[in-house]
Amino acid sequence: MDYKRNILITGGAGFIGSHVVRLFVKKYPDYRIVNLDKLTYAGNLANLQDVEHAPNYVFERADICDYPRMQAILRQYAIDGIIHLAAESHVDRSIKDPFTFAKTNVLGTLTLLQAAKEAWEGAFEGKLFYHISTDEVYGALQFDGTLFTEETKYAPHSPYSASKASSDHFVRAFHDTYGMPTLVTNCSNNYGPYQFPEKLIPLFINNIRHNKPLPVYGKGENVRDWLYVEDHARAIDLIFHRGRVADTYNIGGFNEWRNIDLIKVLIKTVDRLLGRPEGASDHLITYVTDRQGHDLRYAIDSRKLQRELGWEPSLQFEEGIERTVRWYLDNQPWLDQVTSGAYQQYYEKMYGNR
Ligand code: NAD
Ligand code: TYD
Repeated sequence: MDYKRNILITGGAGFIGSHVVRLFVKKYPDYRIVNLDKLTYAGNLANLQDVEHAPNYVFERADICDYPRMQAILRQYAIDGIIHLAAESHVDRSIKDPFTFAKTNVLGTLTLLQAAKEAWEGAFEGKLFYHISTDEVYGALQFDGTLFTEETKYAPHSPYSASKASSDHFVRAFHDTYGMPTLVTNCSNNYGPYQFPEKLIPLFINNIRHNKPLPVYGKGENVRDWLYVEDHARAIDLIFHRGRVADTYNIGGFNEWRNIDLIKVLIKTVDRLLGRPEGASDHLITYVTDRQGHDLRYAIDSRKLQRELGWEPSLQFEEGIERTVRWYLDNQPWLDQVTSGAYQQYYEKMYGNR
């Protein structure tokens, strides 16, 4: 079959990537969707079971740092659009192992850019390299009501955000230097189904269920701006099709929560859904040593995206959290699978048994 578009989605077996792949495979049967993923500890094909047999879906296990593979895949599938999500994504891991982050996030992105430039050279018309980034590149805000806008200066603090900032600069450099059609979006913290249980929300839901301590960093006063993952995927779809080339859009839900307040909502919701008495799990809250260089507050101003493309979050936070908690409680086998066996040994060696 001749497809209308041939789109490469990198990191499609991860948390956000799996939602983007699912959305595109189902919504655009006339597009071929090639999911390219190395399947690191964070990549899991079980996230995509409902689309794996779709005729317009292909999976390629590959490392974005492998230049010949990137060249071959771009050529083989005549790729005309790239949505690049593959990355190392966990701040705590970046503090322990910054090299892996530089390698995947910086060199991997550069490798993919260079391969796309070579594949598309002289025929940039109708092509797009869309890079998915984070609000963490803007650094940290104080408790003063300010928001990150598209004009906020980059000031990353963690090795993770430094590596993402660097990759964003390379993407823009490929536009400014070679004229490659690129786009960058910077999104706030995502939550929802299929998130690896090292991140706050799935980790804590799982721990509450199993009566394990909830390690709250510092005083729990840090603020994050939470967006339901399907709303991010919808924004990516909209921007991929209608975003202005070479532009940047911030994506966020105007939904700031202090960690400790969010944790109390999680405890209440899990306890209620498990039929436990209110307050039964409050004692699990355990204040632990703060994360090194812990960014105080993130908050995104996404009015440009709202104004220019009409996007807004579809879910209220209460509904999103309820759905998310239900999903993790109903999908214990998924949680067990991703935290078991060889992976578990690796995880415990790196992080201890929490
Ligand atoms: P994730 O860690 O769940 O998934 C990352 C995926 O990339 C995994 O499937 C992994 O196997 C794959 N991958 C890693 N290294 C690779 C390599 N060298 N080659 C090919 N594939 C590789 O991450 P996520 O939370 O879904 O984040 C996806 C993207 O969105 C990242 O670029 C991240 O920086 C960005 N982002 C995430 C959030 C968030 O809250 N999670 C917010 C804003 C932006
Ligand atoms: P996380 O989900 O790792 O996302 P990010 O660091 O990219 O924002 O963490 C969200 C917030 O929760 C962050 O302020 C760190 C805090 N946190 C804890 O207090 N305890 C934990 O065990 C984890 C994983 C995070």
